This record gives sequence, C-alpha cells and structure tokens, in this order.
Amino acid sequence: MRISICCTDTKVEPWLTGLRAALPQASVELWAPGAPAADYAVVWAPPQQFLDEQAQLKALFNIGAGVDALLQLRLPPKTRVVRLDDAGMSVQMAEYVCHALIRHFREFDHYAADVAQGKWSYRRPRLRTECPVGIMGLGVLGQRVAKAVAQFDFPVLGWSRSVKQVEGVRCFAGQTQLPEFLAHSKVLVCLLPLTEDTRGILRRDTLSQLQSGGYLINVARGAHLVEEDLIPLIDSGHLAGATLDVFRQEPLPASHPFWAHPKITVTPHTSARTLRDESIAQIVGKMLACERGEPVAGVVDRNRGY
Ligand SMILES: NC(=O)c1ccc[n+]([C@@H]2O[C@H](COP(=O)([O-])OP(=O)(O)OC[C@H]3O[C@@H](n4cnc5c(N)ncnc54)[C@H](OP(=O)(O)O)[C@@H]3O)[C@@H](O)[C@H]2O)c1
Repeated sequence: MRISICCTDTKVEPWLTGLRAALPQASVELWAPGAPAADYAVVWAPPQQFLDEQAQLKALFNIGAGVDALLQLRLPPKTRVVRLDDAGMSVQMAEYVCHALIRHFREFDHYAADVAQGKWSYRRPRLRTECPVGIMGLGVLGQRVAKAVAQFDFPVLGWSRSVKQVEGVRCFAGQTQLPEFLAHSKVLVCLLPLTEDTRGILRRDTLSQLQSGGYLINVARGAHLVEEDLIPLIDSGHLAGATLDVFRQEPLPASHPFWAHPKITVTPHTSARTLRDESIAQIVGKMLACERGEPVAGVVDRNRGY
C-alpha cells in the first residue's frame, strides 16, 4: 500500500513518522511533484497539482472535519473523500461552547471587571429556562455539544437538514422550520458545514429572529457569518454579544472591528484542534477497512457538500 502525505500549513514530519509507525508494511512518503502514484493520501489544503497528478487515489483523507476548502478544488472523480470523524474534536468543541455559554450566562466578564477594580459585587441570578440554546448542525460535533449543554440544564434546541431525534434536544429540520427554531433560541451556536446552502446563514434577517438579548457562538466557518451585520445587531441591543472562533479572513486582520468590540470575544480558530495521534489512528483504521472492502464513516457526499 502506497500512502502520500500532502499537507500545507501543517508540520508534516510528525504525520510522516506517525503513519510509518502505524503502518510499517506500507510505503509512506511526503508528496513532491512527479511522485509515484499512491493508493491513499492524507491531505490538508493540497495544491491542485497534487490532485491532478494523483487521480488514481482510492481515498483522500482530510485531516480536519470541514471539507469546504477541499471541495473547491478539482477532485479526481472516483476518489472517495473522507473527513475526520470526531477524533478528539467533539469534546474540545463541547468545552469551548460550554465555556463561552457559561461565561456569558453567568456574566463572568462583568465580575472580572469588578474584581479588577477591587469591587466585591453581585449580579442578579438569571434563569436558565430563559436562556434556550439553539445548535445549528446536529452532526458529530453538534450532538456532542448539545449533550454537554444539556448537562447544565439549559433548554437545548437543534436544527439540521434531515429530521432527527436526539434525546434531550428539541429538534427542527430544514428551511421551513428555521424561523421557529430561531424564534425559540436565545443563544445560537453554529456548527454547520460550509456549503452553498449555509454560506451567510448568520445574517441580519436570521439573527434578528433570535430572542431579544441573544448571543452568537460561531465555531464552524467564518463565511457562515455576514460580518458587517453583527456589530449593528449588538450595538442596537438585540444581541448581547458574540464569541467567534472563525472569520472570513484568517488570521483576523489587525484593523478588523471585532478585535476591539467590548461585547465580542475573538479566538484564533482553536475551538477544536486536530489531535494528531487520534487522527492517525482513525485514518489508519479507515485505510485498512477500505483495503478489506468494508464501509468507513465520514465519507463526504460531494453533491451535498459535507
Ligand atoms: N472551529 C473549529 O476549530 C472547527 C473544528 C472542526 C470542525 N469545524 C466545523 O464544524 C463543522 C461541523 O462538523 P461536524 O463534524 O459536526 O459535521 P457533520 O457531522 O457533517 O454535521 C453537519 C450537520 O449540519 C447539518 N446541516 C448541513 N447542511 C445543512 C443545512 N443546509 N441546513 C440545516 N442543517 C444542515 C447536517 O444535517 P444532517 O444531519 O441532516 O445531515 C448535520 O447535522 C465542520 O464542517 C467544520 O466546518 C470547526
């Protein structure tokens, strides 16, 4: 079995060492132009030349959960595209979202500001029944986040493309149920894949449908949010603020108004990082399953876009 690694913006040596150790019988090499044809590839943001040269690949393993950038490229028509399926990301996402939610709900920023001035202050407790959390996307990450949020007794709502039943989650599906989902949500968490249907879904007319005093947590992709629409909604008081991990342009430009806005928290696309050892174990398991002709989880439906 021949495996090619083609990852840009990533330290590749540890992937090479890890894959070689996990598959001693395979030939594992870093890709260079003109390299021999491989059976499988492990990729992150590969150049188009790689895909053009390696058109015979049986499967392409993306070392992230989102494949929006990969699907923009011209892919070999018969190659299966496989994304990471959790691999240690969902628990990180659950931590991140619960942290952002609880920091907002318990007003910890206000306490920190008071404490910084030596003030011993109290704020009126809020009712969590008045803080329903709507999660857009009930996939691998969304369902794990929903479970974690429900542990803190917040009412949890979820929205997906197909109809779902998830314990403890009031589920909505499809465009027709989006207004009802939004109207019943106060905190909105975006965990959708970026597709033609979801690009710009967080915009003035959708965010305006959230309950007054709403809060946005975007941990999916920057292009889900129409960035120009957010600050006016916060400054008008309709939204109480936002925690954003992803941006249209990354790194977020120094002049971007999100950095300085007092009600916006920015983090550098770090809510759920790819964990190398878990990911290598998962990818190797899937390669071996492919070789045995068995089905694997996380195969991307190119027409659907995720
Ligand atoms: N910030 C970070 O560090 C980070 C890390 C990892 C992932 N991510 C992002 O998180 C996204 C989600 O990951 P995942 O593993 O949970 O993906 P997933 O398992 O594929 O789940 C996607 C969910 O979104 C729903 N969905 C897709 N299109 C929709 C539409 N048009 N309307 C309503 N619902 C729609 C799907 O509905 P169905 O269930 O009906 O198919 C599914 O529930 C990734 O695509 C990636 O962009 C971000």
